[in-house]
Amino acid sequence: MSTRDRERWNEKYASVELHRIVEPDDWLVEALQVIETTTTTSNRRALDVACGLGHNAVWLARQGWTTDGVDISTTGLERARQSAAANGVHVGWTEADLDNWSPRPNEYDVVIVFRFLDRQTVPRVVQTALRPMGWLVYETFSSAQCKRPDNHIRNPDFTLAEGEFSTFFPQFDVVAQREDVLADRTVERFLGRLRASGKA
Ligand SMILES: C[S@@+](CC[C@H](N)C(=O)[O-])C[C@H]1O[C@@H](n2cnc3c(N)ncnc32)[C@H](O)[C@@H]1O
Repeated sequence: MSTRDRERWNEKYASVELHRIVEPDDWLVEALQVIETTTTTSNRRALDVACGLGHNAVWLARQGWTTDGVDISTTGLERARQSAAANGVHVGWTEADLDNWSPRPNEYDVVIVFRFLDRQTVPRVVQTALRPMGWLVYETFSSAQCKRPDNHIRNPDFTLAEGEFSTFFPQFDVVAQREDVLADRTVERFLGRLRASGKA
């Protein structure tokens, strides 16, 4: 990843209209219902990896989670900051290239990743960031996305084969892993819990 990625995303985010009301992804809402039955600490911490405009991070903060977001895009994070302020919440934003960045180890109860796929970087960041028994909520495009008439993904390497998630996360107990065909996209969804031993 590189300066070119940062520029591309900056350009894209500069023209996006921000909404006052932040709507989270459905998969995050569904997964959080499961997670909240098990996570009882009062200072619950979440990390949004490649958070973009931060809609999910802002929503998590609104639900009372102490939330951080990391992304390479300066413009995305500026707008995420505005969105957090408009929603009256604080989120800790970090601008970083995930290729050269590591979170503080064992810091988070939940890590979320939406619409971002890097088969080397994401497993490393997730595994470092999560506490033992922490949760991973992940959604990204499925390879079936490329067959849709409304597909916008040119490079199939940025999509996942069915069941591929669990190969990246052998240290996790899989709570849910499925493909969902939605009105505007086809996605792989994963909810897993890091084992207490942190081992495969
Ligand atoms: C498709 S967007 C998804 C953003 C957000 N998760 C969402 O669902 O709206 C992909 C994001 O990955 C970020 N990104 C791309 N390469 C990155 C890298 N090397 N390090 C950190 N973020 C990166 C981009 O800036 C962009 O915000």
